[in-house]
Amino acid sequence: MSMKFKRSIFGFIDMIKFSHLTQNRAKHLSMGENKDVSTNFKVNNLAESLHPLYMKAQLVKINKLNPMMTEFVFKRLDGTKFPFFKAGQYVSLQTKINKSLVSRPYSIVSSPEEALDNVLRLAIQKSGFFSTYMCEKAKVGDEFVISEPCGDFTYSPIRDKKDIICIAGGSGITPFVSMAHAIADKNEDCPMTLFYGCRTLKSACYLDELNKLVSDKFKLVIVTSDEKNDKYESGFVTSELVQKYCDIENSTIFCCGPENLYKFIKKEFSKYDLPIKQLHIEESCCKDLDIENPKKFVLTVFMEGEIYKIDCYENETLLTSLEKAGLNAPNRCRGGVCGWCHSYLIKGEVKINIQKDYRREADKQFNYVHICITYPLSDIEIEVPKAY
Ligand code: FES
Repeated sequence: MSMKFKRSIFGFIDMIKFSHLTQNRAKHLSMGENKDVSTNFKVNNLAESLHPLYMKAQLVKINKLNPMMTEFVFKRLDGTKFPFFKAGQYVSLQTKINKSLVSRPYSIVSSPEEALDNVLRLAIQKSGFFSTYMCEKAKVGDEFVISEPCGDFTYSPIRDKKDIICIAGGSGITPFVSMAHAIADKNEDCPMTLFYGCRTLKSACYLDELNKLVSDKFKLVIVTSDEKNDKYESGFVTSELVQKYCDIENSTIFCCGPENLYKFIKKEFSKYDLPIKQLHIEESCCKDLDIENPKKFVLTVFMEGEIYKIDCYENETLLTSLEKAGLNAPNRCRGGVCGWCHSYLIKGEVKINIQKDYRREADKQFNYVHICITYPLSDIEIEVPKAY
């Protein structure tokens, strides 16, 4: 009885409040400050500093690592720090070369801690148009646009085994240098054994830096294919060699390097029948097709209310054609994975690199393509968003 009485009393008070709702609201509004509503919120500022999308950066140092590999050190032009990232991630580096607006993804070599000191290091192998430009023409003081760190070639405690086996081939060493630093800095907690496959000891990069990081949590195994040395392993990174140092079944494998290495490693470890999530391969960029006398087509691009008619070729991706014409199409991985270059194909026939086609079923059905893995087979009309 008493509960019922209380409820009805409180209900009555609520009713009174409700009847004065308009006056109360007017009273509170009149008490408010007569100034514009703030658009500067702490949480938005934090989100922006962690996910800046694009950053202007300056090249501050160039270190030649060997005849093929060069390290580039960048700092942010606005003086703020680079966002903290997961070791193993990459950034997309962009610049203008003549009329073209070119970009490429590169794994970050530096540690997440260095990012907080406004330092970002990338190591680039001289091969292909942009990377050769960087190694031969880029100079200290040049300005670039760098994307926020992205990619999931990173250690995940809920997905991965506690121990990780990392296999690097040639320039594929870069993400693992960052991971080794992250372990030393206690930003990652995963015992790591790194197998670094290189032709000769001289061709290897970052040996001094890696050797300094060796600990009970980080082991380094150098494997030279073209020379023998008592101190190192020689030959290739076979599963037998890995088994000598690690428990393969109870480890997660990360592999980064050239396409040939991926084929070799997949075959080598197939006998272990590991679940798909136990082997991570860093996706490579989609390349030009090897076609003699490629056909030329007209590519009509609808971008932010403008219409552009440009040339495209059957051996080049639509993204490459856009970049050659200086159009700023969004892109990150250039390997079909991230979805940043997602665009609407209005008309035309295309060929898509099936091995790299990670589109959702709905995208396939409604004619959305990833232009980084799509080649023209006829004149094309396409709607592409602008990067920034
Ligand atoms: S740039 Fe990543 S899917 Fe095209």
